[in-house]
Amino acid sequence: MKNNKKEGALLEQELIMEQPENQPVVAEEEVAASTIRQTNKFGGLSDLPGVGPATAEKLSAVGYTDLMAVAVASPGELIEVTGMSLPVAKKVIAAARASLDMGFQSGEDLMKKRETVQRISTGSKAFDALMGGGFESGAITECFGQYGSSKTQLAHQLCINVQKQYPGSAAVYIDTENTFRPERIIDFAKGAGLDPNDVLKNIKVARAFNSDHQTLLAEKVEDLIKKQGIPVKLLVVDSLTAHFRAEFIGRGTLADRQQKLNKHMHSLAKIADLYNLCVYVTNQVMAKPDMFFGDPTEAIGGNIVAHNSTYRLYLRKGKKGTRVAKLVDAPNLKDGECIFMVTSDAIVDV
Ligand SMILES: Nc1ncnc2c1ncn2[C@@H]1O[C@H](COP(=O)(O)OP(=O)(O)OP(=O)(O)O)[C@@H](O)[C@H]1O
Ligand SMILES: [Mg+2]
Repeated sequence: MKNNKKEGALLEQELIMEQPENQPVVAEEEVAASTIRQTNKFGGLSDLPGVGPATAEKLSAVGYTDLMAVAVASPGELIEVTGMSLPVAKKVIAAARASLDMGFQSGEDLMKKRETVQRISTGSKAFDALMGGGFESGAITECFGQYGSSKTQLAHQLCINVQKQYPGSAAVYIDTENTFRPERIIDFAKGAGLDPNDVLKNIKVARAFNSDHQTLLAEKVEDLIKKQGIPVKLLVVDSLTAHFRAEFIGRGTLADRQQKLNKHMHSLAKIADLYNLCVYVTNQVMAKPDMFFGDPTEAIGGNIVAHNSTYRLYLRKGKKGTRVAKLVDAPNLKDGECIFMVTSDAIVDV
């Protein structure tokens, strides 16, 4: 795939140029999970009118395990799974919705929630300062940049630092380009004064072979936390866009790609929010042929990736082997730049 980067970039330019700016995205589950709290008017699925034990079983067998899943489903989905009629499906969904308190949160509640935010250090003081203390939990931080701009090195370092700052915590690494290297983890662990074996044990790596697999793996992180009780504090997706970019080629498929990418990012945002964990995603850039001044590159994934990332950083190579990180989008921090360096055993200030 790496060899196709240039070709892919050219193709993408064409597609992007063909595409209107505000590509509509099919209605998605827009409701942030945290703003919805369940009240126990109905105990479980089988308490919903029209849902007997057999139907409840059919539903939970395919993942509709709680009222929220039913409340945000479409009638068609329920019909497909259970064979129920359209009026019944509508009634079931309406009842599930009514049983949930889709409440609003006060600004004060949200401020309290902000106080639970944790920040994982990058290793560089300058970089941490740029990010208001480090990469935030409950948010998606995206780094985009050319090959060798150290997106993957940073991912490795975060896997170490999260464990250093929060002993006993774990990291999940969804690796789409086969660039996760335990050797680098060992280097960085030694650099941080941690036992490399302990650190390696607490990093769960999954190789994603295509974009659907990647999306599924991200959804499965919830199982690791809920069913296996693994205290995941960091979720890395390296690279977020490579499979999507490689698979969806041709004019008709860009909207489809963006839709799937949107769904994937929504599930990442939901996990970040529900479990207060830090999501770090990497992204490539492509050449912008119509750019005569300034930086002639732009991030892959267009508006979808841009809008779904809470923090966006542009990484590039600087002078004498340094790297430059530029914060280009943040809801509560001012834009700025910092310089750092990747050494054999750490990410450090220059
Ligand atoms: N053992 C090491 N010691 C020092 N620097 C290293 C070491 N291993 C890798 N690096 C640095 O990291 C760079 C590679 O960065 P990285 O793999 O993070 O790039 P990337 O942004 O993920 O690129 P891509 O888009 O290809 O995935 C190398 O060019 C080198 O400068
Ligand atoms: Mg990489």
